[in-house]
Amino acid sequence: MSRPVLKLKRVQDINITEGSTVLVRVDYNVPMKDGKVSDDTRIRETEKTVKYLVSKKAKVVLIAHLGRPKGKVDPKYTLKKPVTEYVEKIMGTKTYFAEDCIGKAREEALKNLKNGEILLCENLRYHPEEEKNDENFAKELARGCDFFVQDAFGAIHRAHSSTSAVTKHLPSSIGFLLQKELEYLEKIMSASQRPFVAIIGGAKVSDKITVLESLLDRVDVLIIGGAMAYTFLKAQDVNIGKSLVEEDKIEDAKKIILKAFKNNVELLLPADHLVVKEVKEDAKTELTQSMAIPDEWIGVDIGSRTISIFSEKIMSAKTIFWNGPMGIFEMPAFSNGTVELAKAVAKATKNGAVSVLGGGDTLNALKKSGVKPEEVSHCSTGGGASLEFVVGKILPGLEALAV
Ligand code: 3PG
Repeated sequence: MSRPVLKLKRVQDINITEGSTVLVRVDYNVPMKDGKVSDDTRIRETEKTVKYLVSKKAKVVLIAHLGRPKGKVDPKYTLKKPVTEYVEKIMGTKTYFAEDCIGKAREEALKNLKNGEILLCENLRYHPEEEKNDENFAKELARGCDFFVQDAFGAIHRAHSSTSAVTKHLPSSIGFLLQKELEYLEKIMSASQRPFVAIIGGAKVSDKITVLESLLDRVDVLIIGGAMAYTFLKAQDVNIGKSLVEEDKIEDAKKIILKAFKNNVELLLPADHLVVKEVKEDAKTELTQSMAIPDEWIGVDIGSRTISIFSEKIMSAKTIFWNGPMGIFEMPAFSNGTVELAKAVAKATKNGAVSVLGGGDTLNALKKSGVKPEEVSHCSTGGGASLEFVVGKILPGLEALAV
């Protein structure tokens, strides 16, 4: 599928002056653990845009969502604490919190906001209108503001009031994070440097069928790992023991295998596996001798021979796109395959490849591997959004910004 080229205005091209009130949509849907932000990447990635606006002495109004509170106020999903504190720390600028993203609470908070200060508003998704792309809600979001800046790449595939309808009410542009995301994802789409190797992992084939099909029109090598690989092996009558399988996706897997053959794409599946009898951290592990998994055993990671085969392919690549882990990487005992591939991607990048990684799991895996984000070309802040982009879909949040 090819997508029309959209003309988008950049934040640095609009006339923001001292005292301008700028509404900025950010994706601060960050993982939390024990009341703390466990990964602040999405906040740090908006630093350039927010600091740019602060340097212009604008009043910066940040709007964001957290989780899926289903249109109701739910303290579990508040952005108040600790997100506001993180924003203040990262931006190095006084940051206030508005108890609501629209109405009196925000109006009052905005009145007291000085030039060059930041106001973070409460979760957009406390209002059911947000996810309905409601026009009036969008108008309320825009109230009292002079400009809208979109920097929430992770939410750009959603047609919500804060990503779509709001652009009708304010002069709109894209922030630095969104610009960077588009620059790298366009490189993946054009894949001018060959060979192009895509690595797709994760648990379910069903989540990624469209992505796999679409990538087959573009890549030279498609590496499939993670639990979804077992469905592909079963589709070829390989024994997979008690490993996870999506029986209803076996036919789809067969179609993908056939398409790879027709398109002359090298489709790589695991050649051996790390297996256990029970999925638990201290389980006894075995390495299979082939791509088959004996009865009673469960695949939890790719094996050492597979790591060598996949790594070699990755290191010969000039364009790399990676989404999804190779095994149950959250358990250290089963993370080796994912960790080793991360190292291979870093080496390929050092040798001149363009590498783009997407998806929360993939980025967590990168962290665990000890590979620094700057050792790959780009870590996308949007797992779902980057997949939809790569598939060639028109993303509603981008379409709304086209001039
Ligand atoms: C994400 O984490 O993928 C984005 O913030 C979008 O969140 P959503 O899937 O709940 O719309």
